[in-house]
Amino acid sequence: MSNLFKYNPKETLPDYGKITAKSPSNIALVKYWGKKNIQIPTNPSISFTLQNSYTKTSLEFKKSSDFKVNLFVEGTEKPSFLPKIEQFLNRIKTYCPFIYEYELTINTENTFPHSSGIASSASGLSALSMCIVQLEKHLTNFNEILKLKKASFLSRLGSGSASRSIYGPMAIWGKNKEVNNSSDHYAIAYREIHSIFRDYQDTILLVDEGTKQVSSSVGHNLMNNHPYANNRFSQANDHLKKIIDVLKNGDLDEFISITELEALTLHAMMMSSNPYFILMKEGTLSIINKIWEFRNESKIPVSFTLDAGANVHVLYPSSYKQKVLNFIKSELVVYCENQNYICDVVGKGAKVLKEKYA
Ligand code: PMV
Repeated sequence: MSNLFKYNPKETLPDYGKITAKSPSNIALVKYWGKKNIQIPTNPSISFTLQNSYTKTSLEFKKSSDFKVNLFVEGTEKPSFLPKIEQFLNRIKTYCPFIYEYELTINTENTFPHSSGIASSASGLSALSMCIVQLEKHLTNFNEILKLKKASFLSRLGSGSASRSIYGPMAIWGKNKEVNNSSDHYAIAYREIHSIFRDYQDTILLVDEGTKQVSSSVGHNLMNNHPYANNRFSQANDHLKKIIDVLKNGDLDEFISITELEALTLHAMMMSSNPYFILMKEGTLSIINKIWEFRNESKIPVSFTLDAGANVHVLYPSSYKQKVLNFIKSELVVYCENQNYICDVVGKGAKVLKEKYA
């Protein structure tokens, strides 16, 4: 592994440059919950890559004898976010030593509100990784495939789920028997999907815009001594196998039953860990019940999934967009903080937007 991603420069370092990249958030259908050091998942996961919820990051680098990072979020300097970035840069140092030759200025902005409860770590760390590998591509003879693979590998070292944001329309992360070339070290693109999933809708209902009451790192670690951990890990493997068939054949009943069971199992793991915690709010449960009622009555294949938080991702085929949005506006927005929700759809993954060197 370390050889594949070893830094092997062919060019001298530029004195100055600036690279801008964007990378989306993603929503897991089969969830990653539990990890070994460092960021090795205890089970494989698969996600829809989103399109509208993304981070745009520019990385400016100036040759310097003193390594330094300046961090701006939405135009304002944010030294409080530096420890997380510095930990990330430290973890990737062996694979990208060249970044330590510079003073770095990172400018980052999200298309979704910072306090929305949508994790910005997946999109943020993958956008920064894309900028770093683009610089490496400039210095080596990287091809595009290896560039994306390394971007996913670096992203994983920052935040596990970030590894999946590099690729669209779907990505799989975690070694498993079903998918050739799957790896614990980076995600791979998953494209063998029925046309119904290519523009699947995800309307994110922002039930709680506050910061997370339990960090995902703490949550993952609680799986280490969890009494149900092994059963959960084998269930996730089984769900991955099943959902791969569903993604090919477009069986929406089966899609709904796997994804909703995954979401509730994720939260059941949190509720049965020691210490235990509940991240769902009253609004989360009301929304789930309303979705079930609406699906029963209308026969529209709308379902939900959850992240490690109270927000609800409402999933449905694009052909039902208007009907489901009407339902959301009339029945569900009352449970959202400030009536806020985000309309998203399956997207293409991370992209470099601009680069210049001097
Ligand atoms: O990438 P992390 O460490 O923030 O963990 C994310 C875990 C979940 O969002 C709950 C599930 C997933 O697979 O994205």
